[in-house]
Amino acid sequence: MRLTPGPARDIDLDAVDLFDLDLYTAGDPHPVWDLMRARAPLHHQVLPDGREFWSLTRYEDVCRVLGDHREFTSERGTVPTHLGQDDVAAGVLLTSTDPPRHTEVRRPLGSKLTARAVRSWEDSIRRTVVRFLEPALDGEVFDLAERALLLPAIVTGPLLGIPDKDWAELVQLTAMVTAPSDPHFQLGSEAATLAIAHHELVTYVTDWVKRRRASGEQDDSLLHHLMSVRPGGAPLSDEEIALDGYSILLGANVTTPHTVSGTVQALIERPEQFDKAQADPTLIPNLVEEGLRWTSAACNFMRYAVTDVPIAGGV
Ligand code: HEM
Repeated sequence: MRLTPGPARDIDLDAVDLFDLDLYTAGDPHPVWDLMRARAPLHHQVLPDGREFWSLTRYEDVCRVLGDHREFTSERGTVPTHLGQDDVAAGVLLTSTDPPRHTEVRRPLGSKLTARAVRSWEDSIRRTVVRFLEPALDGEVFDLAERALLLPAIVTGPLLGIPDKDWAELVQLTAMVTAPSDPHFQLGSEAATLAIAHHELVTYVTDWVKRRRASGEQDDSLLHHLMSVRPGGAPLSDEEIALDGYSILLGANVTTPHTVSGTVQALIERPEQFDKAQADPTLIPNLVEEGLRWTSAACNFMRYAVTDVPIAGGV
């Protein structure tokens, strides 16, 4: 996807296919989004198979939808590819769960992921990232986009309590879940790729939890922490912990690599910004924040309206 918006162009919003992955992989969706924000803040699309959806693109409208689970539920899936299918993990998988249960699981998880809580990991993460980048200095080709796929595992692996020997395989599986139609990751058909990867990931985390329970071993990893979370007064089942572990792996692995490669690409396109940051490293924390915003690794997600809702000038 083009990160830097290309030139404005004539667009017929009625003909735009927001479901077409090419728009995001090879195309430039920015002028489309601009036009939607300006002319069709509540945009309707019907797919050839009859499924339909409404898109909101204005900040206030998006905040309203995401902020009100009573009107807009997550429990029927939150990614557009699931449109029209009931989510089998509703009320169990964190992303497909509404409050209060969502808050009860999310809050203790979030408390382990604040900047302060992860500070104790900072030195070891920094050392691993330096080791990861060292080969870039040897003058050989260093394919950052390919290699960055492993970066989130370098950070979240220790947090989750997952040994480094397993990172590469888990990264491959999360990529298969997110992009089952990508020939780079595909195993057989798209459906088979998704089913195999989902099964392997959930089995991996379930086995991890079972081994921990059997050994009675304690540590301060996130997965171990999940074993002590008690939403509604009852502990999470192994399956629920496995699905939460799956969410964290997926959440980290399919987003942050694009932030890394997209930010570096933006700096290559704007060498003066690179020079500034190189001359004054105190700019780097802001550069990272801006990289997160600029690259916007998650550019759409979905909610179901529970009832008819007036929004963005329509219902
Ligand atoms: C550039 C980095 C990232 C971006 C752009 C991003 C984006 C998002 C978005 C948009 C959602 C909300 C989806 C929805 O409500 O439908 C989400 C949820 C989530 N993300 Fe991330 N994420 C990033 C990094 C991470 C990392 C590093 C982790 C793990 C350590 C993670 C774990 C999760 C989890 C567990 C959820 C579900 C939380 C919930 O339902 O409350 N994400 N992410």
